[in-house]
This record gives sequence, structure tokens and C-alpha cells, in this order.
Amino acid sequence: MKPALKLLKWYQEHGRDLPWRKTRNPYHILVSEIMLQQTQVDRVKTFYRDWLKVFPTWKRLAEASNEQVVRQWSGLGYNRRALALRDIAMQVNEHGIPQTEEDWQKLKGIGPYTASAISAFAQLKRTMPIDTNIRRVLGRLLFGVPYPQPDIDSQIQSSMETFLPKSGAFYDVPQALFDLATMTCTKVPTCSECPLKTSCLASQAFLSGTVSIPKQMIKKTREQTHRSKPHPDRIYRGRILAIAKTTPGTSFEDIGLLVDKTFDRKLDQAWVESMIKRLENEGLLKTNARTILL
Ligand code: ADE
Repeated sequence: MKPALKLLKWYQEHGRDLPWRKTRNPYHILVSEIMLQQTQVDRVKTFYRDWLKVFPTWKRLAEASNEQVVRQWSGLGYNRRALALRDIAMQVNEHGIPQTEEDWQKLKGIGPYTASAISAFAQLKRTMPIDTNIRRVLGRLLFGVPYPQPDIDSQIQSSMETFLPKSGAFYDVPQALFDLATMTCTKVPTCSECPLKTSCLASQAFLSGTVSIPKQMIKKTREQTHRSKPHPDRIYRGRILAIAKTTPGTSFEDIGLLVDKTFDRKLDQAWVESMIKRLENEGLLKTNARTILL
């Protein structure tokens, strides 16, 4: 069976039940897509519902003021997107609903991804919107690239003519890819559970454990820093340990100024004591009557 048909079969059974999948209303689809560009699916569900209550049509949104729009968007972040959405509504309100992907793209505020997404999901066109999730799945499946970058998009687009089914629910293929991308084809994929593992050009490499995550994709965990201190906590923790070694018996009251010239008792004493407590919990130092020891 062709991979896209296998995928659709899997989607019938495992696809997520999302509110914007129950409509073909282009306005509703646009709202969902703009919200999904920056926010996780579960959070979007409530914002999407509430937005459509307040602005149920293109016209109602087109007539809304900046303030009304930004207030309703509050919590989603990137207010500029809310205003861009209202501006798109104004253009549609004036000129009518575009009927082709090309015409959607002529609207200010709509790029190739969004034009393709509305065409597929609202107007049932045979097109593939490529966002980071879809790029990851298709770059792996069709080209065997474990961590595909945007420069692969033109190759993905060229292969869509043969990849997408000629008939049937081809407009559901991207929806199924979104789900596969979050459920199995994640950053570190679980290929053993993937419905497409036998067709996928990257699955062998992942299954044999020979793929490593590119360095630039590994998120650095943000180091903890107190107030506006110039160094992260680990530096001060190191200094506390050094004092415990060289001058055991230093008191909790004296240690602050020794580890930090700008120590302020009111603002920083609790911070210093919490670092001492952590070092003690980790077994790196001992305390006795509010003094530190090794
Ligand atoms: N991400 C972007 N569009 C989406 C959609 N329609 N469903 C789930 N995730 C998405």
C-alpha cells in the first residue's frame, strides 16, 4: 500500500479529535492556523472557541478595533498576529474569499504555508502545507534526512504530485502528518510504533541508534541566576564549597559577603541559605549550628 494511504488508515484510528477538523469554514480554519503557529494544540482549543464567540465572522473581525482584537488575543502572545488576522479579515470582507492558493497568497499577512493550509482544509485542494512538523516527517520518510532543514522544502514539494493520493481524502494527509509528528515522528522518534516504518528512508538509521541529535537542536537548559547577579548560581555554589574547605566553621551570616561583593542581607540571605541547603542535600557539604563544614 502507498505510504499516504497507510497514513490515512492510521489517521482514521488514531487521529486527534480537534475542533477545527470539524469545519470547512475558511475563516475558522484561518483563525486556527494563525493560533497554531505559536501555541500548543491544547491551549489553542479554548482560545479558538472563545475567539469565534466574540468574532464569529470575517465581517465582525474586520470591524473590530486594535484594542478589542488584542484584548481577545491576550494570553496567546505575539499581538502582531492578532492584528494581522484582523487585517486579513478586512481584505476578505472587501474583496471576497479567495478560491485558489495563489489568490490566498496575494493577501497581506498570508504566506505560502497558510495559503496552502486553508486551501487544503477549507477548500479541499490537493496541496501540502509544510511547517516544521510536516517537514520533519516528510524529510525523513521521503529523503532519509533525520533532521531536515527548510532547504529541503522544494524537494518535498516536487514529490507531492506522486505522494498525495489522486482521489479520496488527500486533504486529510497533512492533518495526519501533524498527528504523526507529535505522536511518533517526534524529535527523537519512536519508529517501532510508526505506521510508515517500512517505507521510511530514515527509520533504519533511527532504529539502529546511529542518529545523533544535531548540537544546535539541543536546547540548553537555562541556568538559574539570582536577581541581577552577574553569574549563575553554580558559580556561587562553587565559592561556598571552597570556603567550606578552606575555612570550615564559617557562619551562614558571614558567608554571603565572602561569596558575593554586592551581597545584601535583606535581598540575598535567603538565596545564600537555599544554596547551602541544596549543597547539603546533595551531600557536598555539612552544616552545624548555622555554620558550614565539609
Ligand atoms: N499545526 C498546524 N496546523 C495544525 C492543525 N490543523 N492541526 C494540528 N496541528 C497543527
